[in-house]
Amino acid sequence: MNLFGTLRAPRELLFGAGQRHALGGIAARLGQRALIITDNRLAGEPDFLALVRQLEKADLAVRVDSSTLPDVPVESAIASAEDAKSFEPDLVIGIGGGSCLDMAKCVALLLTHGGRPQDYYGEHIVPGAVMPLVAIPTTAGTGSEVTPVAVLSDSERSLKVGISSPHLIPTVSICDPELTLSCPSGLTAIAGADALTHAIEAFTAVRREPVAGIAQQRVFVGKNELSDHFALSAIALLWQGLEAACKNGSDRVAREKVMLGATLAGLAFGVAGTAAAHAIQYPVGALTHTAHGLGVACLMPYVLTWNAPLINDELMKIAQAAGLNGPDAVIPALVSLFERIGIPATLRDLGLEEEKIDWVAEQSSGIARLIQNNPRPLTPHEMRNLVAAAHRGDRSSLN
Ligand SMILES: NC(=O)c1ccc[n+]([C@@H]2O[C@H](COP(=O)([O-])OP(=O)(O)OC[C@H]3O[C@@H](n4cnc5c(N)ncnc54)[C@H](O)[C@@H]3O)[C@@H](O)[C@H]2O)c1
Repeated sequence: MNLFGTLRAPRELLFGAGQRHALGGIAARLGQRALIITDNRLAGEPDFLALVRQLEKADLAVRVDSSTLPDVPVESAIASAEDAKSFEPDLVIGIGGGSCLDMAKCVALLLTHGGRPQDYYGEHIVPGAVMPLVAIPTTAGTGSEVTPVAVLSDSERSLKVGISSPHLIPTVSICDPELTLSCPSGLTAIAGADALTHAIEAFTAVRREPVAGIAQQRVFVGKNELSDHFALSAIALLWQGLEAACKNGSDRVAREKVMLGATLAGLAFGVAGTAAAHAIQYPVGALTHTAHGLGVACLMPYVLTWNAPLINDELMKIAQAAGLNGPDAVIPALVSLFERIGIPATLRDLGLEEEKIDWVAEQSSGIARLIQNNPRPLTPHEMRNLVAAAHRGDRSSLN
């Protein structure tokens, strides 16, 4: 097979301890009126206030919108964009976890193109570039600082929704691991497990025939040479750093590895896409109201077990990246790592009621873009078996 690769990334990506201090100079090149999107908790933090001062020193007019809510309800993004109009921003800066970054993407989109978020649900619907956008993550997990997606919750739909477009990739991302030093252990685990799941799902995603134009038709094209490169590096870094970062939050080396791993995982899944673990998490998250990272990580070992017969080469490479003894060691080692950092082992532990298994299976099977990205096909019946196995904690029935 011919080699094929595709990569989409911010125009400038800065990674490293202390790189946040470059914000003033970077922002001054992009605009004069900066709208900062963050949340209530972060808006009072000294690190955040220092970032605002940098912008003011660089002669930018600054307005802070700290109204971001977890999982970004659609109405909150509409209200923020409406509020910001009178300020006439020419630059949006998202500072915070995945929720703040997704909110910033959505507000920049609405300020540039008008309309409502609902107008842009799906892939490749955003009509053109959005105003300059800077992303500064404070969790190491979602990869939103480099991805083409904003994930929102819409009260009119039972599942979360996504706006996927290369136009949503931030212009500049500043990934400073010092900003994650304040993340408590539970948040570090959830976000880091989300990142590891992104990397594994991107690396084991389906490989499509690389017809010309594939990346213009689809936002997520499946695994390829470039996404593989980032996914494997992410797996190695996260495997080395995640447990240490959870056990000792001031371990700077571990924090660096986890944040770099999360960003590289974002570069990987931002083109390759994710697959069945994400498809099942959407309805599970809607019912249990548990964090996205907890759900996808809980599901990953079951999905890998189902996929295993078709991904032996990938499991071998994951084993090498993680320093494990061959492909058969990968799933048990992943289960053990997730257990040590406190990820629930089953959907039952996550709070899913047994009578909801059918609904979850039905809804997940309906998310075609993710199911079609899974390396091993899943009929609705097989999906039901997979969800039931993940509920009772029985991987052996999936072999
Ligand atoms: N756009 C994407 O590519 C993408 C990918 C995966 C997930 N997501 C979405 O991202 C969201 C989850 O993001 P998240 O996991 O980063 O959590 P989050 O952004 O929802 O934040 C969770 C909590 O952590 C706090 N927090 C953030 N940084 C902190 C820090 N440094 N110290 C202490 N507390 C801190 C926040 O204030 C908040 O209370 C979900 O909505 C999910 O669907 C987006």
